[in-house]
Amino acid sequence: MSGTLSPVAPFGPAAHLSCRECGHTTDLGPTFACEECFGPLEISYDFGTVTREQIAAGPASIWRYAPLLPVPADVATRPTTNPGWTRLVRAHHLGRELGFTNLHVKDDSGNPTHSFKDRVVAIAVQAAHAFGYTTLSCSSTGNLAGAVGAAAARAGLDSCVFIPSNLEKEKIVVASVYGGRLVAIDGTYDEVNRFCSELIGDELGEKWGFVNVNLRPYYAEGSKTLAYEIAEQLGWRLPEQIVVPVASGSQLTKIDKGFRELVKLGLVEDTPYKVIGAQGSGCAPVSQAYKDGIDVIRPVKQPDTIAKSLAIGNPADGPYVLDIARRSGGTVEDVTDEEIRDAVKLLARTEGIFAETAGGVTVGVLKKLADAGRLDPEALTVVINSGDGLKTLDAVSDCGPTAVIKPSLDAFRATL
Ligand SMILES: Cc1ncc(COP(=O)(O)O)c(C=O)c1O
Ligand SMILES: [Zn+2]
Repeated sequence: MSGTLSPVAPFGPAAHLSCRECGHTTDLGPTFACEECFGPLEISYDFGTVTREQIAAGPASIWRYAPLLPVPADVATRPTTNPGWTRLVRAHHLGRELGFTNLHVKDDSGNPTHSFKDRVVAIAVQAAHAFGYTTLSCSSTGNLAGAVGAAAARAGLDSCVFIPSNLEKEKIVVASVYGGRLVAIDGTYDEVNRFCSELIGDELGEKWGFVNVNLRPYYAEGSKTLAYEIAEQLGWRLPEQIVVPVASGSQLTKIDKGFRELVKLGLVEDTPYKVIGAQGSGCAPVSQAYKDGIDVIRPVKQPDTIAKSLAIGNPADGPYVLDIARRSGGTVEDVTDEEIRDAVKLLARTEGIFAETAGGVTVGVLKKLADAGRLDPEALTVVINSGDGLKTLDAVSDCGPTAVIKPSLDAFRATL
């Protein structure tokens, strides 16, 4: 335990870890796999009474939902990046273009390091403190590395993050500017991830909290805040259709968990919602399994998509994504690089939101399904933009001046 922490329960309402496969429960600790069956562990809670008023009186960050997260009650007073409470944009123009009457964009590019990853990392930092870790680490497809660097800097922790060496230049800069160590590995994300698993077992990785490996049960809970915010910003109701990006599948599974918790707590009415997973065609193992009607995800060995942040060939939560998509009446779909580029521009042109390629994937899937008549155009629909277009500039490198002229009215007139 860090000596500076006040003696509040470090995990707030969290009660224990439970196995998603066999239900076996274990004490809250820095473990992520079930000792009985090696299934993934997730956090179970003993929630007290939580009211809409109590939440609304909280800070304009994910900490307004602290009573629903594995964090200490005084978390908002600690040095964190204070992520979340990003805008939910009523997308009239995009809706009109695609045929939706009630479309919203949840724009998570507004987070401190410009992606939804600040949410998950903020929770992992609290777990790192509780377990006495002094270095924060991760394997990353880009955004997570930057989020870890920034959060560690704020929290006074060391950081050392690992990325595949072929990432976008902008993401590499963001991952290194906060002063921690950044190690680029010549390999795919899945190879970087395997390397991190080895490091955890080695004395080199002692006292290291890998946010998405040994702190994964805590980290993953941060994505629930996307669900909470969307419901609250819609006036305490659930959407009817939601399009979510899928890399490991963690965000999608936790958005579903968040919605179900709100229902259980009586904070929203129990209305049906369809969850739609979105991937880039060059790395679409979950979409492929969905289309093949099978439960087993066949890993993609060499991802090849401009949506590099979603390029996880062997997604840990893939089977749960399939289950949620099928159970909710949703689907999993993928889009090509060309469709991703077009969707980034479409969102920018219609709503003034510049998404990274992952946002091009969700908007592209929304368009693809709408064009095919596979979504209800009248349903309350939310599409998630999980990152900032300034981090994937190459994807729209054909954008530039519509004219280059001498500084004269005549020259300008000639361009019209
Ligand atoms: C911008 C962005 N969106 C979505 C995701 C998907 O996250 P998950 O691994 O939770 O599916 C990532 C993951 O790296 C990301 O960087
Ligand atoms: Zn188990």
